[in-house]
Amino acid sequence: MDKIVVEGGARLSGKIPVSGAKNAALPLLAAALLPSGTSTYRNVPKLADVLTMTKLLRMLGWSADAEAKGDSLVIGPPSGKKKPKLEAPYDLVRTMRASVLVLGPLVARYGRARVSMPGGCNIGARPIDQHLKGLEAMGAKVTLDHGYVEVEAKRLKGATIVFDMPTVTGCENILMAATLAKGRTVMENAAREPEIEELALVLNKMGAKIQGAGTPIITIEGVDELHPIEHAIIPDRIEAGTFACAAAMTHGDVLLEGARAEHMEAIIAKLRAMGAIVAVEAGGLRVKGPAELAPIDITTQPHPGFPTDMQAQFMVMACLAKGQSVIKEMIFENRFQHVPELNRMGADIQTTGRAAVIRGGMKLTGASVMATDLRASASLVLAGMVAQGKTEVLRVYHLDRGYEAIEKKLRGVGAKIKRAKQT
Ligand code: EPZ
Repeated sequence: MDKIVVEGGARLSGKIPVSGAKNAALPLLAAALLPSGTSTYRNVPKLADVLTMTKLLRMLGWSADAEAKGDSLVIGPPSGKKKPKLEAPYDLVRTMRASVLVLGPLVARYGRARVSMPGGCNIGARPIDQHLKGLEAMGAKVTLDHGYVEVEAKRLKGATIVFDMPTVTGCENILMAATLAKGRTVMENAAREPEIEELALVLNKMGAKIQGAGTPIITIEGVDELHPIEHAIIPDRIEAGTFACAAAMTHGDVLLEGARAEHMEAIIAKLRAMGAIVAVEAGGLRVKGPAELAPIDITTQPHPGFPTDMQAQFMVMACLAKGQSVIKEMIFENRFQHVPELNRMGADIQTTGRAAVIRGGMKLTGASVMATDLRASASLVLAGMVAQGKTEVLRVYHLDRGYEAIEKKLRGVGAKIKRAKQT
């Protein structure tokens, strides 16, 4: 197991390349199950979660070959007489709940799928009732037994589906399923994340007929077949936002190469409200840190609101800001696990239910801290970069799920950070 060791105090300056978006790559890899033929994705981030999804595609019978040095992934259907497997096993799904994204494509194309129910995870129960409700509305028979969900349908039928809440992967599952259903599907109260728009764009490139992605109402006219495509994946807005916080906290001046401001409006608004200077430049987004950060109030919401995946990172900035900040986490019920670790570094954060009150102006000191989930681990690395002395972030496998070579990218702009073996 690895750890990240970081010395506080460096001022970040220079350029950081932003990788392809994890939360776009995962549904796009699942979407490659839909067309008959071989699809190629470029700008695929080298992440543990992408490797897991690639492994799952291979388990189902697809080929998924990464180029040796490049960032492309070529995904081909089961060869010759080989029949596809239609089951995602527990020991894989438990390591990555996004495996549930193969449900929609497999049922739509082959009429059946059997996927281990993803248990809860560190940040919350994260049920998939909306995914299943949508498939049932499209005529699928859903049975749960022995920890697996089995979904069967001779052919899915178009339906109107009103989600109880905007769910990103729930919408992605139904979007993919509806492309091959018979007739029209209307998704209401749909999630509006950029990754949903990206998936719809790629499905339409494959020959699907989708309208309204990025708005709360998405309409899909089912077709009989999709064809393979080539596509470069959009940049990761959360990785970019994480590095933007690093620049803002260290009085830095960093160009986030490839970042797309139109995907990050809520993040940029809060960075500016805290005093950072954020400018759209030809090569991406330039972020300069102020002499002093201002406190901030944040409530996480579905897109285009402030993203829950940026909550932990902004909490570290709030620890430094002069004054009190309040952060409310409205998406997941247990996403404050970074708080005890930050308090051990000298922060003063009180949580009650969904709200965290942060007394700012604190001097953080380096410590050995434990990563618990992906974005919490990122916040601990950020804290280490501004803390006095050395910080060791343990269990960085959480970090590797969603950040490609984070220590190399940060070292490239002056951070004193390295990866080491956790003895
Ligand atoms: C996606 O998770 C992202 N993961 C998460 O990113 C992100 O935090 C989340 O969306 C919210 O933006 C991927 O895209 C792979 P949801 P997802 O379904 O789809 C409830 C990261 O750090 N809900 O939008 O699982 C759910 O409990 C990860 O990169 C149901 O109740 O999230 C939550 O409260 C973490 N029933 C809310 O909806 C359902 O059937 C939003 O969850 C589905 C969801």
